[in-house]
Formats: sequence, C-alpha cells, structure tokens
Amino acid sequence: MRARVFPDYEAMGAAAADAVARALGEDPSAVLLLPTGTTPLGMYRRLVDMHRLGEVSFLRATFFNLDEYLGLVPDHPASYHVYMKEHFYGLIDADPARIFVPDGAAPDPEAECERYEAAIREAGGVDVCVLGIGRNGHIGFNEPGAPFDSRTRVVTLSESTRLVNAADFEANRAPEQAITVGMATIFESNEVLLLASGTNKASAVAAALEGDVSESMPASMLTLHQRTVLFLDEDAASDLGHGVPG
Ligand code: F6R
Repeated sequence: MRARVFPDYEAMGAAAADAVARALGEDPSAVLLLPTGTTPLGMYRRLVDMHRLGEVSFLRATFFNLDEYLGLVPDHPASYHVYMKEHFYGLIDADPARIFVPDGAAPDPEAECERYEAAIREAGGVDVCVLGIGRNGHIGFNEPGAPFDSRTRVVTLSESTRLVNAADFEANRAPEQAITVGMATIFESNEVLLLASGTNKASAVAAALEGDVSESMPASMLTLHQRTVLFLDEDAASDLGHGVPG
C-alpha cells in the first residue's frame, strides 16, 4: 500500500479523478466500485468537468456502488441512488444498463445481496474500487468486526456511523441497517484508491496504516493489498507517526 499526500481537499480529489480517468483511458470498459459521502464529491466534480471537456468517456464502463441504506426507496432524498444521480451518474455519459446500486427497498434483502454479488462476478470483478473511510475505520458499511471474508450482505450500522450520518434524515435518525459490498469483494479489486480528508479522519488513517491488521479496524486489511493507494490531504495524514509510505 502506498500513500500520497496533497496540500488540500481539492488537490486530493483532482488526483483521485486523474487516477480514475487514467484507468478508463487504459480500459474504457473498466468496472468501477464507488462510494458516496462527503469525501468523493471533489473527485466526482472533477470527473464531470473532465467529461464535459471531452477528456473522459464513461459510456462503456460499468458502475457498482458500495452500499445503500436498508429500507430506503431509490428516490428517497437521502438514498445513495439519489446521491449518485445528482453528483455523478446523472451528469456523465454512463449507460443506465451498467449502473448498479443495491436496492435498499428490495422485498427480500438477502436475495438482493446475492443478486448484487452475482452481478459483480458476472461483470468480471472490480477493476478500480474507490473508498472513503469512516472515523471508526469502516470501508463501505463494513463496520469494525466485519469479517475479512465477507461478501455483499445486510449489516447493522454502528451508533457512531448513524450519528455522523443523522443529519441527512428526518428527525435526525439514520436507518439502523444497510446493504454493503463485503470485505473480500473489495479486496479482490484489481486496484483500490482510498480517499481521506480532514483531521477527523487522521486517527483512523494512522490506525489503518500503522496499527495491526485486524477485523476491528476494517481499513487495515488494505495494507495487505498490492495495488492500494491512499489519497490523503495533509490534515488526514497528520497523525501518521512513521512518515508516509511512498
Ligand atoms: C459511503 C461509504 C462510507 C463512506 C465513509 C466516509 O458509500 O461507503 O464508507 O465512505 O463513511 O464518509 P464521508 O466521506 O462522508 O466522510
């Protein structure tokens, strides 16, 4: 695992966008696994700009999202379906037939998870996985304790994650459960870009990078992955005690 540190959020997002665009330049039909949240917004903005300038096309790419809240219909304003449409999929030339987001309102969530995992397999697996990181080290919605051999499944969100995400919901109450792509599926991605910005991510970044590899710190699994690059701004890198592994 390598880490790259950028002066600020904008530079971090621009570099991550460049890495995604480069991967699509090499393989226009690449399979991407993508996050929501605050962290990737700059990357999405930059990719949309590059698309408008004719620098990148997404027409042949396949898109999977990492997660979705359980119980939310796809047009719920806080759903990740809506987030992705507003910030990315609705602004580029993506083929709707190759956009996959877990259906949080599926009548049989377990079957939905199996269907989703099978769709990733049928697409040939993930070429480029982009991740954010939770303050507790979660990746996707794989909270501390998530088995490294887990696949797409229904998970219970930690209280701390629900608190951080509460503002998106009426009465400040985030759903208790979600569907997430599992740790093993993330690990099998050919390339992983983990993005982190801000001092509130610094301790999770340091623990993931410099602590023990442990299921209690999900992002630590990525230290075992040959092609993982951390994209950090200076604040997110500020707790690294051993310097930046380059
Ligand atoms: C969201 C996801 C989460 C976020 C993480 C960081 O799809 O998979 O793991 O990446 O919670 O969220 P932000 O970027 O909002 O700090």
